[in-house]
Amino acid sequence: MMAMDKIRILGNQNLRLRGEIRISGAKNAVLPAIAASLLTEEKLALENIPLVKDVFTILTLVKELGADYDLNGNSLSIQVPKIQSEEASYELVRAMRASILVLGPLLARHGKAIVSLPGGCAIGPRPTDLHIHGLERLGADITLEHGYIRAEAKSLRGAEVIFEKKTVGGAENLVMAASLAKGETVLKNCALEPEVANLCELLVKMGAKIDGIGEETIRIKGVDELGGAAHEIIPDRIEAGTYLIACALTQGDIILTHTRPDHLETLIEKLRFSGVSIESINSHSLRVKGTPNLKPQDITTSSYPGFPTDMQAQFSVLMTQAEGTSIITETIFDRRFSHVNELLRLGANIEVQGDKAIVKGNTPLSGAEVIAMDLRASASLVLAGLIANGETLIFDSEHLERGYERIEEKLRSLGAHMERITD
Ligand code: UD1
Repeated sequence: MMAMDKIRILGNQNLRLRGEIRISGAKNAVLPAIAASLLTEEKLALENIPLVKDVFTILTLVKELGADYDLNGNSLSIQVPKIQSEEASYELVRAMRASILVLGPLLARHGKAIVSLPGGCAIGPRPTDLHIHGLERLGADITLEHGYIRAEAKSLRGAEVIFEKKTVGGAENLVMAASLAKGETVLKNCALEPEVANLCELLVKMGAKIDGIGEETIRIKGVDELGGAAHEIIPDRIEAGTYLIACALTQGDIILTHTRPDHLETLIEKLRFSGVSIESINSHSLRVKGTPNLKPQDITTSSYPGFPTDMQAQFSVLMTQAEGTSIITETIFDRRFSHVNELLRLGANIEVQGDKAIVKGNTPLSGAEVIAMDLRASASLVLAGLIANGETLIFDSEHLERGYERIEEKLRSLGAHMERITD
């Protein structure tokens, strides 16, 4: 049994975060890039790797499948000379649902894949039906048995796949599989998230023939084999967004570097409407200044370029300090409100009604013991802890490490009092 870490924050309504921080590579872009290493026997050199737990989880998984790798600082060199196993176990998939990203690559290169179904999840059921239907369209034979997806295909062949619903992981699995299929694949209604485009750019460097990168319709002409490539992971827009909100909450003044403001437009717009000042210093840096008179904002999550579901919990915390009531509508994941009960313990006034959270503003928060249920919920608790008077103790804080590189260090460098306690 792993030791359960806690995070202790000494919060204060008068905290003003100040300084400069560097944004890390995107967790959600590096996971598919590592899965793509399974598509070739040649080496991938990936830069700007965030050192977060999900990255170590997928490295453990691809190692079991046959990868050799060398992680040197934030640079990863990875090579899969031969597929040694085709199975992604329940243990790993349960720890990280993105493990399903090995399904397409294994099937395309090796003709066979056995991947555990992810099962229940703190943020609602995350089905895999769209991944499965898409791969079946490419000719895979798929059965669900004993909690595992068993997929086989002598060879995949190009086809038209229309995603009934936008899915980030589904689009990624299909683009990877189609790159090695025979003939042309047309994927329609693809998710537009920048992480999908970042993967496509890597695949093109590996020799894939892909048209329509960053668009809803992606066309892929299959090739016989893919080769090595060097590629840089895009900055993490959710990490950047979390720090934008930390600054807004504390009426701070901070600079984010190594970020992509153009990937944050919807959030930046909402923050500006609420009175926060955000200026681009250049195409990779932003300066944010908070305001003492925060205006309430309603948000509705949707797929990119809409308001990201991965920023919903953090934005809700910000709205507890606005001058009025905000309505937060979650449309991507059912019941993604596990942070609300914990925020109530810190003194927030939030009511959940179906897919909406009604957040009352002007609510002073006070420190308390709370528990982190998932990655973004734990980020929201950290944010709340910064401005809650007194001590906040966040239990099960390892969720935070799944996606935020050195968060205590980064927030401390801006003036926060925060530490990790390992039993
Ligand atoms: C990715 C992100 C996650 C983010 C989410 C939505 C990674 C590693 N994770 O997750 O941080 O919160 O996008 O932006 O990139 N769905 C189906 N059937 C499927 C697949 C998905 O119905 O086969 C549904 C899901 O239940 C959800 C919606 O589609 O309601 C979007 O999910 P999806 O985009 O697939 O999310 P992930 O790729 O798992």
